[in-house]
Amino acid sequence: MCGIVGATSRTGAVLEGMIEGLRVLEYRGYDSCGVAVADGERIEIRRKVGRLSELEKLLVDGALSNARIGVGHTRWATHGKPSDENAHPHSDGSGRLALVHNGIIENYLELRKELQAEGRVFTSETDTEVLSHLVGRELARGASLIDAVRAALRRVHGYYAIAVMANGANGGLVCARQGPPLVVATTADAAYLGSDVLALLPYTRDVVYLEDGDVAELAPGFARITDIHGAARERAVRRITWDAEQASKGGYPHFMLKEIHEQPDVLARTAFDRILSTSGDVSFEHGDWDDARLRALQRIQVVACGTALHAGYVARYLIEHLARIPVDLDFASEFRYRDPRLVEHTMALAVSQSGETADTLAALRLARELGAWPVSVCNVMGSTVVRESQATILTHAGPEIGVASTKAFTAQVVAVFLLAVRLGRARGVLSVEQGRRLLDELRCLRPRMEALLAPHSVERVGEVARGHLDAKGFFFLGRGVNFPIALEGALKLKEISYVHAEGYAAGEMKHGPIALISKGMPIVVVNSPGAVADKVRSNLHEVKARGGHVICVGSDRESFELADEVIEVPQTIEPLSAVLNVIPLQLFAYHHALARGCDIDKPRNLAKSVTVE
Ligand code: AGP
Repeated sequence: MCGIVGATSRTGAVLEGMIEGLRVLEYRGYDSCGVAVADGERIEIRRKVGRLSELEKLLVDGALSNARIGVGHTRWATHGKPSDENAHPHSDGSGRLALVHNGIIENYLELRKELQAEGRVFTSETDTEVLSHLVGRELARGASLIDAVRAALRRVHGYYAIAVMANGANGGLVCARQGPPLVVATTADAAYLGSDVLALLPYTRDVVYLEDGDVAELAPGFARITDIHGAARERAVRRITWDAEQASKGGYPHFMLKEIHEQPDVLARTAFDRILSTSGDVSFEHGDWDDARLRALQRIQVVACGTALHAGYVARYLIEHLARIPVDLDFASEFRYRDPRLVEHTMALAVSQSGETADTLAALRLARELGAWPVSVCNVMGSTVVRESQATILTHAGPEIGVASTKAFTAQVVAVFLLAVRLGRARGVLSVEQGRRLLDELRCLRPRMEALLAPHSVERVGEVARGHLDAKGFFFLGRGVNFPIALEGALKLKEISYVHAEGYAAGEMKHGPIALISKGMPIVVVNSPGAVADKVRSNLHEVKARGGHVICVGSDRESFELADEVIEVPQTIEPLSAVLNVIPLQLFAYHHALARGCDIDKPRNLAKSVTVE
């Protein structure tokens, strides 16, 4: 995710503090960075692809070191490759303003065309630059900076945290939030803003967390918050008692829990600006996804490892169901050594959070040598897997610090859902109307995810998880699109609790594994209304009849009557039930491991990215 800082001071230079603030935000991951400062009339922008150390080489002349107002940014590329031109801050060419942005402007293309028609010149591929021109246009009409920013934001659909500075009579420092977090603070002589409270702790522990729709006007010792129409808003000042390490977790005790709670935002960042509502279709920004190419496809071969392979399993169900293309999948570590045969017009689909997993990379390279079209679903723009793919669907999950993957997984599932819709629409399997309905359901997923993350929902899962601390082993069962969710739930528990847990296709239990069921053994059954719900109910009966203790996760109400414990999940369409059903399983693993006193973020024996064989 991008990082934003900003400051305005009556007395001191702001540049050094902003650079330190950006350094603190490096954990968010980035591929370029920049600062803008105003020193009297001039606004100077310095920006560079690469690390902060590269940017600092542009500042050694000290020309900016006395400036008293500025904004800074670390960019995690979404629209437009990592480059100096695409790095933030952006301006409108007038030299009067500088703007930094975290998020996505969904309607940036239409706004860009409107602004270009007025003769405005764009110098980057970013959606952000549209905001600079919208604000610049209002400033040119004589508006104050706060009015210019509010007017600009009223034109925008999307998801943003922004900071804007301007010089001159109607200058100043303004920031706004709709989605990604933004924190502001004032001291007697200054005012500060940042994407994360961490960037403000060197100045003060008394901060204000902006909420969605807030627009804040900052000046030394002063902050005023309104909505985008100018109506005043009151926000409480919070005293931060965390130390720096706690603060990077946003107040959560562990990165894993923070990342579980980030999933609604990750869904929005990964999906919403790719949805083409009118045509009931999807657009991807990296690679050649035209209909002719997708219609020619004969098969898809998924290669991945661990959690990413579970997302690959979901991809198989969704793509075969929604696009009618045969999908094979394999552990990347198996695929690369089994002397595989591929038919022509095969897509090799590598799924990977890090984009550096050795087995996945080797499998992708082998598939490409065998003539496959190398495609990836990946969370890291500049990673090796992305660079060796001819097309990529980026998952905008931001850096995932917890070794046990959570938000990256749901982002992968959302990405493969979008891929299935694109393939289905390109091949004429899905009509416009069918595409619209599927994508409307995807849009409705966010409040349902948030309901699962509400305190009472999380506590319910915690109670159930703590009720089985004496269990020697678990089964996780599911069918269809929820079979991989059973696999993922078992893996999460294994990884961080060090307890044996096995994910199994529910229909397969009677072919042997059911012998393992002893009285009281916890059996997590994942079931939601759909084509196989009744079959899963039968499997639930089978395990109960042998003394198993059934914990039902999902939204199939008839299953609830059969279960010993229930963790209810909001309803959605069957293809999307996987995205919701996995969240209680992530929380189950988290609370079980916590109660066992395990190391949540750095479990024993595991690495975040397995870059060796
Ligand atoms: C997930 O919780 C694990 N840490 C592991 O299975 C991981 O998914 C696997 O190593 C693949 O990593 P990648 O997604 O970075 O390729």
